[in-house]
Amino acid sequence: EKGGWDSFMDKEIHEEPHAVADTLLGRFDLEGRLNLDEVRIDEEIFRSIDKIIVIACGTAAYAGMVAKYAIEHWVRIPVEVELAHEFRYRDPILTSRTLVVAISQSGETMDTLMALRHAREQGSRVLAICNTQGSTIPRESDAVLYTHAGPEIAVASTKAFVAQITAAYLIGLYLAQVKGAMYRDEIRGILDELRAMPDKIQRVIDTQSQTIEAAATKMINAQSFLFLGRHVGYPVAMEGALKLKEIAYTFTEGFAAGELKHGPIALVDEGEPVVVIVPPARGRNILHSKVISAIEEVRARGAYTIAVAEEGDDDVRDYADVVFWRPQCPTLMSPLVDVIPMQLFAMDMAKLKGLDVDKPRNLAKSVTVE
Ligand code: M6R
Repeated sequence: EKGGWDSFMDKEIHEEPHAVADTLLGRFDLEGRLNLDEVRIDEEIFRSIDKIIVIACGTAAYAGMVAKYAIEHWVRIPVEVELAHEFRYRDPILTSRTLVVAISQSGETMDTLMALRHAREQGSRVLAICNTQGSTIPRESDAVLYTHAGPEIAVASTKAFVAQITAAYLIGLYLAQVKGAMYRDEIRGILDELRAMPDKIQRVIDTQSQTIEAAATKMINAQSFLFLGRHVGYPVAMEGALKLKEIAYTFTEGFAAGELKHGPIALVDEGEPVVVIVPPARGRNILHSKVISAIEEVRARGAYTIAVAEEGDDDVRDYADVVFWRPQCPTLMSPLVDVIPMQLFAMDMAKLKGLDVDKPRNLAKSVTVE
């Protein structure tokens, strides 16, 4: 069933271009008009939504964090992202104008299920983003937008993550369309950018795998890793840290690069590996120079720096010990490519340590208890 791959994780990473392309398929026309009729929530209701709360756990929650940056920017309504188990027990503010988006690959995560039940009891509508047809979470939601990533077997989630971001972006763009928050041309432009992502993901896999494996071989004895990013790079850093914890059993922490001087930089010592997600450099992006200075700061304290950066970003060469290159793309699209080296790196580390990458100790594919 692994179709010639060493592991399901390997196979599933290689399926990521398809996961994104198939999730986009048939959901908009060439004029850039989204059609989410399958979701079966009245346009009128979508138009009345004044707040979104994303509930999810683990990787699905990081996909939600990425979507927050995009949806707030496009639709201009507040988007909160909360771990489902925290949300349920803190008396959250929910109204009939709140759209709760429950993200789950398996559709069986009990924490997420309990949270969505609570939201519905409070009169909010729940829209699920789910990868498993007919599972409990979509069945109990008001509506569902399926990710078409195909079955995900490895415990560490990979292709589901990029498909979840894609689906959440479609919901954001749909809201922008029905609320008139953006011009048709703008929406069409973003859909074109999304459509270009599968090839870019493929390119990362094709061109970076060897460099990534060599870096993993070099770092095999590292005791811990720090991951940092800013803006959408922040949830990607957390996701990269989670992957390495889960399958390589390495202590990692992912945090926002801006937090460095508020504490985490104290951890940096000679040889400490620090993975940095670098935002696009083009358009004199202020975040780019801020992240570059974060690399300088940790390097000055002896860190071994691994950057994920855009092709053509010459500044990075001077500061990073290793660079994993990704094709150029707009900032909001970058998580779809930046996460790929994170996943490959974790997988290579786990394999080199002789671990079972598909079935890490102590973990189950879906967590069906609260
Ligand atoms: O099936 P779900 O998407 O609801 O699962 C949520 C988390 O349990 C899941 O993403 C978990 O964090 C993965 N093991 C991450 O690789």
